[in-house]
Amino acid sequence: MNEITIIKPDDWHLHFRDQDMLLETVSATARCFARAVVMPNLVPPVTTAALALSYKERILAARPEGSSFTPIMTIYLTDKTSVQDIKDAKAAGVLAAKMYPAGATTNSDSGVNSLESLYPVFEALADNDMLLLIHGEVTQKHIDIFDREKEFIDQHMVKIVDRVPNLKIVFEHITTKDAADFVLSARDGVAATITPQHLLLNRNDMLDGGMRPHNYCLPVLKRSTHQAALRAVVKSGSPKFFLGTDSAPHTKDRKESDCGCAGCYSAWSALELYTQVFDELDALDKLEGFTSFHGADFYGLPRNTESVTLIRKSWEVPGNITLPNGELIVPFFAGKEVAWKLK
Ligand code: NCD
Ligand code: ZN
Repeated sequence: MNEITIIKPDDWHLHFRDQDMLLETVSATARCFARAVVMPNLVPPVTTAALALSYKERILAARPEGSSFTPIMTIYLTDKTSVQDIKDAKAAGVLAAKMYPAGATTNSDSGVNSLESLYPVFEALADNDMLLLIHGEVTQKHIDIFDREKEFIDQHMVKIVDRVPNLKIVFEHITTKDAADFVLSARDGVAATITPQHLLLNRNDMLDGGMRPHNYCLPVLKRSTHQAALRAVVKSGSPKFFLGTDSAPHTKDRKESDCGCAGCYSAWSALELYTQVFDELDALDKLEGFTSFHGADFYGLPRNTESVTLIRKSWEVPGNITLPNGELIVPFFAGKEVAWKLK
């Protein structure tokens, strides 16, 4: 097959950042995605309905001329989030709340310290038909960084899923066989997003033959057996798994530093790279479910009606992208060949 037409996809997890950066990030995503779930980890974070609404206005203002791209807004849970905050968010059209364990990842310092005290908020999300989106890693420093996702499942995820049985939960950007197996065997109303980097790469691609800061994201890339498990699960076509790029831009100097930050900016190539993976797996017939149906169905939103076409054509991801303020970003897969291209 040299060409594939699919219903226009949505991105169920990404980071647009703010201000100047929006002109770059919003158009890169709007080139191929109809909607995107926008993560709230700005500095300071988007913790209230009012902050989400003003952020949404800034995103809409950054859309390219004529674009009908729609951002789906989220709020950021902290130790102080109240049931009223959830009701206000619902009234403002916010669909989901994101839970970062404090200190788990980039811009998560204001995240949750005590999960136990958040149960009334989880109940409120369920009562208001909103989703809980979880960054599933423990933050205990003595736990090996490669084991933090599995530990989160054992310590917390099992409990949350069980104690709030009518809450829809997305286990974001899963990276392990443990997480894939957990989601497969979990009750209805539990799903996961998977990024292009976790399907394409494993930790050798970050550490073998030199450190590659542009492949460093959180949760960190795992060993190849986990990569293989994620590839198997998308190939299976299970509706519990859907596209979430976790596109997360950082400037080149913040990535290439003695304490480089986590995140891969994949918006320029993500859809093409997912297509490449499904092609490698001989599973192009499962691509559209993953990119365009499973997420919308899980969120309870209508499927898109427009379509996009990808063609088998090799191209090279640029080495740098220049932001409106002159700063540089090195995109994910910079300088590498991608086998598919958006027509
Ligand atoms: C994300 C970011 O930069 O905001 N970084 C990342 O490595 N994925 C945060 C996140 O989703 O963990
Ligand atoms: Zn993310």
